[in-house]
Amino acid sequence: MSVSSHYDGSASSYSDQYDPERLWTNEEYPANLFRLQLVQRLLAASGARSLYELGVGDATPLVTIAADGLRVAGNDVSPEMVRFARSNMERHGQDPAAIALLDAQDPAAISAEQARAGTFDAVMALGVIPHVTDDVAFVASMDGFLRPGGQLLLQFRNAMFSMFTFNRLTKEFVMDALLAGVDEGIRQVVSDDLDARLAVDKPPVRTRPTGDGYDEILSRFHNPFELADVVRAHGYSDIRFHWYNYHPAYPMLAPQIDPMAYRKAQVALEHEGTWRGMFLCSAGLIEATKAVPDPGGEL
Ligand SMILES: C[S@@+](CC[C@H](N)C(=O)[O-])C[C@H]1O[C@@H](n2cnc3c(N)ncnc32)[C@H](O)[C@@H]1O
Repeated sequence: MSVSSHYDGSASSYSDQYDPERLWTNEEYPANLFRLQLVQRLLAASGARSLYELGVGDATPLVTIAADGLRVAGNDVSPEMVRFARSNMERHGQDPAAIALLDAQDPAAISAEQARAGTFDAVMALGVIPHVTDDVAFVASMDGFLRPGGQLLLQFRNAMFSMFTFNRLTKEFVMDALLAGVDEGIRQVVSDDLDARLAVDKPPVRTRPTGDGYDEILSRFHNPFELADVVRAHGYSDIRFHWYNYHPAYPMLAPQIDPMAYRKAQVALEHEGTWRGMFLCSAGLIEATKAVPDPGGEL
């Protein structure tokens, strides 16, 4: 099943997670609300006056950012998301035509959109790179919308979080990343030991009757250091990590904790901004500055 059909299925309720009224009542933790607040702070700090977003969803983030005074535009691959996004833009006094229906992995579609939309002070992609097969091509696509000296904001699912989950994700990270290339006999000993120590039957796989649940479509984790290298290789500097979606206990323990106490502990940690986020957060954001060509022709 496709990424597009997954998001078609969630388009009508997507804005719920951004409703501050539901912060304490929403069953699902509203991590994306904190992501949006983080992005608003970073854009304000950089002084960006315009923003292009790849994968706008229903454009709740984009219209919120437009209300801060930025000129905004973007795209999405899901026809339903684009339908909601355009009507959302219209309701907020924005141009619905600023939202394009396209696949950001299609180079021809991206080039045409870059020619149409021009360049911006900032470019962002939130929740999109997990669904992309080629990170290098995706960062290049983002780069094409950004003016020299502009600000790139790239969200990712954090592979390092697996060091705090003590479950199947931990085993996969140890075996596939940490011990890649190690002697097969040693790997087998470690693998057997991890099967005994870790809850390898968790987390549950998120499925849908339609076969396009979040864990049934391509939804990758990224190693923050490797992704930062991809961004750096495109000529970016001032690379910074920001963390959100904090976990005050590893997720499988949450059912043992009073839900309101757990939610309060999560919210209390959001935006604390220290190294702990690399392990306590299931998601992160890379902020980076695009190089300005020097007048002599060298970067
Ligand atoms: C997790 S949602 C986030 C939406 C929005 N950025 C937000 O923060 O609310 C990811 C969005 O990216 C879109 N998307 C995924 N792959 C894409 C692609 N190749 N091209 C364009 N959009 C894509 C999906 O359709 C979906 O609307």
